[in-house]
Amino acid sequence: MEFVDQLKSSIDIVKVAGEYVRLNRVGTTGQYRGLCPFHQEKTPSFNVNQPRQIYKCFGCGVGGDVLKFVMEIEGLTFYEALKQLAEHNGIPMPKRSEYSDAETRLRGTLHEMHALAAQVFQDGLRSPQGAEARAYLAKRGVPQEMIETFGIGFADPAGQALLRRFSDRGFAPDQMEQSGLVRRRQEGSGFYDTFRGRLMFPIHNETGKVIAFGGRAMQDDQQPKYVNSPETPIYRKSSVLYNLHRARDTVRKQNRAVLVEGYMDVIGAHAAGVREVVASCGTALTPHQVRTMHRLAGTVVVNYDPDAAGANAAEKAIQLLLDEGLHIRVLTLEGGLDPDEYVKERGADAYRARVESAGGYFHWLADRARARFPKTTEGRMDAFKFLLPSVQKIHDKLERAAVANDIASYLGVEPGVVLDQFKRMAAERRAPAPVEARPASVIPPMERILLGALLGNDEARAEVLPRLTPELTEGFFTREIFEALRHVNGLTGPAAFSALEARLNPPAQGLLHEVIAADDMSGEESSLVQARSCLRKLHAGLRKRQIDDLRSRVKIAEREGRMEEALGFIAELRQMEKQSREDAGE
Ligand code: CTP
Ligand code: MN
Repeated sequence: MEFVDQLKSSIDIVKVAGEYVRLNRVGTTGQYRGLCPFHQEKTPSFNVNQPRQIYKCFGCGVGGDVLKFVMEIEGLTFYEALKQLAEHNGIPMPKRSEYSDAETRLRGTLHEMHALAAQVFQDGLRSPQGAEARAYLAKRGVPQEMIETFGIGFADPAGQALLRRFSDRGFAPDQMEQSGLVRRRQEGSGFYDTFRGRLMFPIHNETGKVIAFGGRAMQDDQQPKYVNSPETPIYRKSSVLYNLHRARDTVRKQNRAVLVEGYMDVIGAHAAGVREVVASCGTALTPHQVRTMHRLAGTVVVNYDPDAAGANAAEKAIQLLLDEGLHIRVLTLEGGLDPDEYVKERGADAYRARVESAGGYFHWLADRARARFPKTTEGRMDAFKFLLPSVQKIHDKLERAAVANDIASYLGVEPGVVLDQFKRMAAERRAPAPVEARPASVIPPMERILLGALLGNDEARAEVLPRLTPELTEGFFTREIFEALRHVNGLTGPAAFSALEARLNPPAQGLLHEVIAADDMSGEESSLVQARSCLRKLHAGLRKRQIDDLRSRVKIAEREGRMEEALGFIAELRQMEKQSREDAGE
C-alpha cells in the first residue's frame, strides 16, 4: 500500500478535525457537524463523515479528506501535512521525501532554526550570563516549573550566541535572514542576533512548533519594552494566539477560552490553574484569532488590563467577538491589577473564582457608556442608543430583547422608549437580504437519494447497481459518478469509496462529497428500499419515454402509408403498455 493510503487508513478524520472544531454527532450513521473553521458562520454547516473519512462545508463549499483538512487549516503543504499527521500518530515517514518542494524545505529549515534558538535561549538563562534574568524572574514570582513549561530563555547581550550556533550548523545566509532571528549588518558584512539581553518567550503554532519569539526588556528604562519576531514564512502575527497549543484541549473541554493581553498574564493564569488561557499579544485582536477561538469554544472571557488602554482594547475585542456570535463575559479585576499581578497578590483560588464569576459584557459596556454621557435623561438615552448597535449584533431574538430591557433598566431608560427603538431596529434588520442562506443543491433529488442509498449500503449496491443500466442514468447530472460506481462495484466499505473517489474529476468529487455529507437522515435499513423504489421510478420513466417514442413512430408511419411498419410498432406498443401496467401493479 502507498504510504499516503496507509497513513489515511490508520487515522480518523473525526479525531483530527475534532481537535480544531467542536463537533457534534448527528444521526446514527457516523456524521458529525460543527461551525466551519474556514468561513464565518453562526449556524453549523461543517460536516464530517466518519465512514467516508471526508469533510464538507455547505456554507463555503470546502471539502476533502483528512490531509486536505490539515493542509487548509494549518496552511501547510501536502508534504508538511503528511509529516505532521505521521508524527502525531507515531507512524514513521518513508526516507525519500518525494512530496517535498522548495517552500516546504524552507519552512522545515525555519522550524529547525526556531527550535534551536529556543534551546540556545534556554541555555542562556541557565548560564552565568543569565544570573540577572533569573533574578528578574524570581522577583516577579515566576517559579522554575513555569520557566520550564513556557520555555522562557535569555538572549546573549553581545548578540553573537545564536549567530554562532547557526553558523556551526551550516545554515545559509539566506536562511538566516529569512528566519528573522538574526539581522544583516547595515554596513560591512555579516550578521548579528535580533534579540540581545532580553528575556525570551517562545511563541508556538497550534501544533506546538516554535515559530517566533517575544523578547522583554529587563530594565524599566530599556526601550522598547518588547522586541518581537518579524513576520516570516512560518509566522503570521494576525493568526497566532499565544499559548493556544497548550490551552487547546482545555478550551474545547471547558467550552471556554480566557483571553488576556500578554505573555506574563498567560503564565500567571496558567500557574493559577486556568489552563484555557490565551493572549493576542500586543496587537489588536483579529477576526482570524476570534474564529480560532470560536471553533474550539462557545464562550470567551475577556480579561484585559484594567487601565484605559486595556479597556479600549476590550471594547474593540467585544465587537469582534459579537460579530462572530460568541458568548462573551468580561472580567475586570479590582485594584487596578492585571491577571498576572492579581494571581500574585490575591492567590490562585481568588483568581479562579473571579474567572468563574465573570459577568455578562452588557453591564460592562453599559458602565462604559454611562461614564461617557451626562447623567441627564437625554444623557441616559444617548448612552442607550450608543449601545444599541451592539445589541443588534445578538443573533438570538429573545436574548436580544432581554438584553435591551436589561440595559434599559440598568441605565434608567423608560421601557416605552426601548420598545420604540426596538421596532425601528427590527425594521432595519428586515431590510437587508438574509445572510448565510444555504445554497440550494444542484443535484436533482432523485439522484441524490439514489446515490445516497447506494453509497450507504453494500447490499443495495449489490442488488440494484447491475439493474441500473447506462440507459437509465444517461441523462443524469451525476452520470459520471454512476459510471464510476459501476466500475468499482464488488468492492465494499471504505475501499469502495476511495476507489470511487479516485476515478472522479474534482467537480464530480465535489458532488460526491455533497451527497455523502447530506446523507444523514436515511438509516441503513431504508437504503435498500429507497434504492429499489428509485430503480422502479427510473424504469417507469424510461418506459414512458419509449412508449411516447413508439406512438409518434406509429403516427408517422401511418401518415406516410407504411401500414405494415405501423402495425409492427403498434404490436410493440401494446406489449410495452401491458408490461408497464404489470410493473405498476407488482
Ligand atoms: N507588547 C508588545 N510590545 C510592546 C508592549 C507590549 O508586543 N511594546 C505585547 C506583548 O505581547 C505583551 C502584551 O503586549 O505581553 C501586553 O503588554 P504589557 O501588559 O505591557 O506587558 P506584559 O507582558 O503584561 O508585561 P508586564 O506584566 O511585565 O508589564
Ligand atoms: Mn501586562
